[in-house]
Amino acid sequence: MENQKPVRLLCSDIDGTLLGVPEATRRLRAAWEALPPDRPILVFSTGRLLDDALKVAAEHGLPMPDYVIGGVGTMIFNAREQKRLDEFSTELDQGWERGTVDRVVRGFSGIDPQPDEQQHPWKSSWFWHGASPEQIAELEQALADAGVGAQVIYSSARDLDVLPLAANKGNALRWICGHLGLGTDEAVAAGDTGNDVRMLLEPGVRGIAVGNAEPELREAIRGSSVYAARGECAAGVLEGLIHFGVIREEIPATNS
Ligand code: GLC
Repeated sequence: MENQKPVRLLCSDIDGTLLGVPEATRRLRAAWEALPPDRPILVFSTGRLLDDALKVAAEHGLPMPDYVIGGVGTMIFNAREQKRLDEFSTELDQGWERGTVDRVVRGFSGIDPQPDEQQHPWKSSWFWHGASPEQIAELEQALADAGVGAQVIYSSARDLDVLPLAANKGNALRWICGHLGLGTDEAVAAGDTGNDVRMLLEPGVRGIAVGNAEPELREAIRGSSVYAARGECAAGVLEGLIHFGVIREEIPATNS
């Protein structure tokens, strides 16, 4: 049965979802800002670390978010109060050993570390071009054999993130819903790559896959109820928000 609860929270990826087609970003912003003041809570969820996410959002004129989930669901920031929610991050330590994770990944050939600016204690990030599902499974097995509680998130046939088990964009979205006293069935999530899969498929959440979604995301949502938009980037988000009844009609964009 179609979920009829009003949408109280929108959680969207940034790159390739809200950004990518500037004219569509402007249209989405105009439509969002024309909503009444009791509009849904706005959360950005990105692979970028928090400072970087806030910077890119401001540079591209995205609407002001209420919360930002950064580092592929490893850190949460309350943007209204300008404070990090450390209660979330401390839950990530369970079973996690960054040193062991890095040692296991280095044991595989063809994997190179991402720059230091993309790393932090709960996010071990690498480039692994064109890894097959079998190779990813082999890495997961090696991490399990080494006794670390870690998960592998692979995006854009290139970006490899190894994260604590309690992290990822889906777990972080569920955590934020709990923190705000909302059910996941009051949330909509939008994304375009592998690191968005968990939040789009999080039980209860209404998902939007934008039209430019990567093959790995399309494959993962096949047969699910995620809304596959035709529009690219923000045009796809807008289309999904209309589909889920958050936005009723489009407001013509201004050129500012
Ligand atoms: C962003 C991050 C990068 C991560 C990727 C996929 O590009 O900067 O570290 O690997 O998202 O999650």
